[in-house]
Amino acid sequence: MTRFRKVLPIGGIIAWIAICSPAINSCVHQPFALPDSLIQPDPTICFDRDVLPIFLSNCAMSGCHDASSGENGYVLDSYENIIKKGIVKGNPAGSRIFQSVTHAKGVESMPAVGPGLPDVSINMLRRWIMAGATDSTSGCNVSCDTTNFSYSGAIKPLMETYCIGCHYTSPSNFANYEDVKNAAVTGDIIPDISHDPGYQPMPQNGAKLLDCQITQVKKWVAAGAPNN
Ligand code: HEC
Repeated sequence: MTRFRKVLPIGGIIAWIAICSPAINSCVHQPFALPDSLIQPDPTICFDRDVLPIFLSNCAMSGCHDASSGENGYVLDSYENIIKKGIVKGNPAGSRIFQSVTHAKGVESMPAVGPGLPDVSINMLRRWIMAGATDSTSGCNVSCDTTNFSYSGAIKPLMETYCIGCHYTSPSNFANYEDVKNAAVTGDIIPDISHDPGYQPMPQNGAKLLDCQITQVKKWVAAGAPNN
């Protein structure tokens, strides 16, 4: 027994060197989870409004991460499913899902198709995970403002959160002002997001936008869909 006590630490060090020295940075550590007491909740985040749409419009598609596909065991269609795997509360850098959308080394980049998440969505995911990845409702009371209907202040962020996960190729690349304008002025954006009968309800698979958001789009189009 005594002999083992002396030998084991040395054996451990040798094993450590053997495993880690070829590529010291590739040593695999368990993701460090912040203790709950150090996690700072963010009262401005509303999970359903700010975070869930990012997953629904970029990940929870058929063949990818909807309930029936569940690629690699990730079903990303509801709060309960999203936090099951790949999210370490308080630690974005240790969260596999966050690593994949930020193209971390050695992790499969996601989404698997398209240009990748816009910064606004990545920043939201980072803030949400930092703040404990809760099913937060505190920020849900912050009302959407129908007097704000500029392209940069309302329409562009709305497209980035709800639409460009699918609409990223011309002629409906909704990351581009011109494409949004054309689809809004000559196309069906308004009836589609209003879920008018006979039109394609958009965002596909996701919840209907808030009335206030639909009003923002209507007001912007009525103003001539300016690039303001
Ligand atoms: C999950 C994927 C997905 C998301 C998210 C999505 N769309 Fe679509 N959208 C589609 C697909 C697929 C089509 C083609 C439907 C077809 O033609 O059968 C489409 C078609 C459309 C069309 C043309 C439909 C028509 O009536 O001819 C418009 C306009 C549109 N989407 C707007 C939007 C807007 C605005 C958003 C965001 C608020 C959005 N979409 C979000 C997948 C999506």
